[in-house]
Amino acid sequence: TVLIVLAVVAAYLLGSLSFAVIVSRLMGLSDPRTYGSKNPGATNVLRSGNKAAAVSTLALDALKGYVPVLLVVLFGEPYGLGEASAALVGLAAFVGHLFPVFFRFQGGKGVATAAGVLLALNPWLGLATLLTWIIIAGFFRYSSLASIIAAVFAPFYQLLIWGPGPVAGLILVMSLLLIWRHAGNIRKLIEGKESKIGQKAPGAA
Ligand code: G3P
Repeated sequence: TVLIVLAVVAAYLLGSLSFAVIVSRLMGLSDPRTYGSKNPGATNVLRSGNKAAAVSTLALDALKGYVPVLLVVLFGEPYGLGEASAALVGLAAFVGHLFPVFFRFQGGKGVATAAGVLLALNPWLGLATLLTWIIIAGFFRYSSLASIIAAVFAPFYQLLIWGPGPVAGLILVMSLLLIWRHAGNIRKLIEGKESKIGQKAPGAA
């Protein structure tokens, strides 16, 4: 139990590293919390027009979900940390991204981090969810819509792979939190005001 608490805390702290903000700062770009959707995430960093910054944000935010979960999956067993522990650690990284202790608890929406968590938990689950995102994004060109639909499907994919259990519950919680964080996007989608992928935001540099 001490170990799982330590793992959860470590994952939460890692998740709290808001790479949209960190990468933008390192690359001399505006703070993503000041333009576009004001969200510290890869989609919004892309609105600065800097693709390298957006891709770096996406990769690092995904890795902070992927790495802690994979560590538990690979090395947790002898210490009594199974799949449910791995999923819990993933949820902790995800929650860190949403409510980062280093950024006054003003975080992002968790899409990239959730993708990393799912890929580490089960590559098929991750790939199916990723493919869902890609299909919706390719078709409609809205990052938020793709994320919301992928989050709706992920728990069902998970049920097909493992069936009900603690992992299913934890993934459902992650999906619900992710969709809740997109409330503003849902409003904009309904009003037809959501910006398409790659559309630049005024005031970003
Ligand atoms: O990565 C989050 C994405 O689904 C929406 O981001 O900036 O359009 O609110 P944004």
